[in-house]
Amino acid sequence: MKIEFTLNQQPIAVDVDPMQTLLMTLRQDCGLTASKEGCNEGECGACSVLVNGQLVNACLLPIAQVSGNHVQTLEGLRQTEKGQCVINALLEAKGVQCGFCSPGMVLALYVLLEQHPQPTEQQVRTALSGNLCRCTGYSMIVDAAFIAATKGAGLW
Ligand code: FES
Ligand code: FES
Repeated sequence: MKIEFTLNQQPIAVDVDPMQTLLMTLRQDCGLTASKEGCNEGECGACSVLVNGQLVNACLLPIAQVSGNHVQTLEGLRQTEKGQCVINALLEAKGVQCGFCSPGMVLALYVLLEQHPQPTEQQVRTALSGNLCRCTGYSMIVDAAFIAATKGAGLW
């Protein structure tokens, strides 16, 4: 079935099983591998993408439900000033170790700062609550939110 949507600002059409997940479509049919397959059950956030600006788990979303919507991935976000601001903050805070969770963390921090340009620690921790990290203990990722808020002041 042909499914049309917008991917990182560009119109795209894919011909796939309508029940195939957005995650598999991105990775197998679109060549975008930043979003990772972790739990495949909606628990870890490694597969995070934005759909119409909302953070979603791409492993749970059939591609048919994406028809007509706008999907953003890390590959697209890194081309923007805001996305690069978050990536730089995560690197500066040493919030990237193995990197498996990092694309999802960038997207979660991006959505947080869009909603709360000067977030509280509670707001940061709530925003990250759907994204698991086995390496960092989270404190460096929390630090990254504040670095991005400070260095990106005026962007958000
Ligand atoms: S792979 Fe989607 S939430 Fe874990
Ligand atoms: S940096 Fe390894 S899982 Fe987060």
